[in-house]
Amino acid sequence: MTDQERWTAVDTYFTELLVPPDPALEAALAASAAAGLPPMQVSPSQGKLLMLLARLHGARRILEIGTLGGYSTIWLARALPEGGRVVTLEADPRYAEVARANVARAGLSDVVEVRVGPALATLAGLDGPFDFVFIDADKANNPPYLEWSLKLSRPGSVIVADNVVRRGEVVDPASANPSVQGIRRFTELLAADPRVTATAIQTVGEKGYDGFALALVT
Ligand code: SAH
Ligand code: DHB
Ligand code: MG
Repeated sequence: MTDQERWTAVDTYFTELLVPPDPALEAALAASAAAGLPPMQVSPSQGKLLMLLARLHGARRILEIGTLGGYSTIWLARALPEGGRVVTLEADPRYAEVARANVARAGLSDVVEVRVGPALATLAGLDGPFDFVFIDADKANNPPYLEWSLKLSRPGSVIVADNVVRRGEVVDPASANPSVQGIRRFTELLAADPRVTATAIQTVGEKGYDGFALALVT
């Protein structure tokens, strides 16, 4: 058994026990695959983690940067209390259409708004504050996404960023990969910014070796 096979088997084990089959989420994955979207959504166990984090935080207004087919969006929307909302930003109009259909099938169209366009342009027109922000788009732009997330936050808001480890490449200061450089700069900004306290956690699983950063706005 390779490491990856073991990580996937363990994800499958926990997911089968702890993440019951959900027709809307499964349909979202199937429709996204059928439409040719790249399969880079969070795993089921990670989606449920996001849902639980948002729920234990009591998040009413959630911002997501990077929608893809809306899989993580549906998980986040499932955490909302009555009257809550998710705003999710997607650059690719075709992905956004798939996401809208997936969100509609999940019965969440009234609480999810998919905004199409480069996130940096959309962010400039949003009204905060958001209680919870999930950053999961083009990693090279994580530094400005952090700045916008802070502008659109309040003390007590939570910011989560996906894919901050990249198979360990994050520790290479000479990496030529703009995603890695974006994540490194993002982490340095988190470290230096007096408005946040943060940590990062390495993960393995069906998506390989990666990780999350978690920040609290103080
Ligand atoms: N959060 C999703 C996965 C997002 S994948 C999930 O877990 O289900 C990253 C997404 O960010 C892709 O759909 C990509 O099109 C989008 N993206 C890339 N650059 C972007 C930009 N500048 N603005 C908005 N979205 C962008
Ligand atoms: C990639 C992006 C993601 O958001 C992810 O979860 C996995 C991979 C990527 O750009 O390769
Ligand atoms: Mg991701």
